[in-house]
Amino acid sequence: MTLDLKALVRTIPDYPKKGILFRDITTLIEHPEGFKESVERIAAAHRGQNITHVAGIEARGFIFGAGVAIALGVGFVPIRKKGKLPGETIGQNYALEYGVDTIEIHADVLSAGDNVLLVDDLIATGGTAIAAVGLLRRTGATINKAAFVIDLPDLGGADKLRAEAVDIHELISFE
Ligand code: PRP
Ligand code: ADE
Repeated sequence: MTLDLKALVRTIPDYPKKGILFRDITTLIEHPEGFKESVERIAAAHRGQNITHVAGIEARGFIFGAGVAIALGVGFVPIRKKGKLPGETIGQNYALEYGVDTIEIHADVLSAGDNVLLVDDLIATGGTAIAAVGLLRRTGATINKAAFVIDLPDLGGADKLRAEAVDIHELISFE
């Protein structure tokens, strides 16, 4: 557990819009130890906390969230972009650093007594994660922990999420 995970993330300027420094995790997940260690570090920080489900946000949150769910021995809840889930859904609109979108979950996927860990690759403005926490909480489940591979603290998302009573675990920070 001594890998420099930050060095494995590639930065691409002006994607998808001018002025955005895009933190690209494809170079991290192409690296077998980097990918494994990212997942294991998030899982290790959440063992013994009675987590019943990991919820991951489409698309990059699926990559890490699925691995964390397997490592913790719990089920995985996909939080999908609008129109992708086949059953009855509940949804939430949100603003992104570079646009707007809607996320959805199946209406019957969680209930009171479930204790969900939210996982995504990155938190920037926090719009996506706050929408996800609000959506998950509408099921009656408890969501008071979230994990991100990357935090962009200057954009304030992690602080906003803490204000929603969510404990945050992040592996890498880009100031
Ligand atoms: C990215 C990233 C997070 C979100 C963070 O997803 O994976 O989910 O943006 O931004 P925020 O904190 O400002 O809300 P994106 O919507 O680009 O989708 P993708 O995973 O499908 O690429
Ligand atoms: N999602 C939102 N902001 C991002 C950024 N700067 N890099 C990668 N993914 C992002």
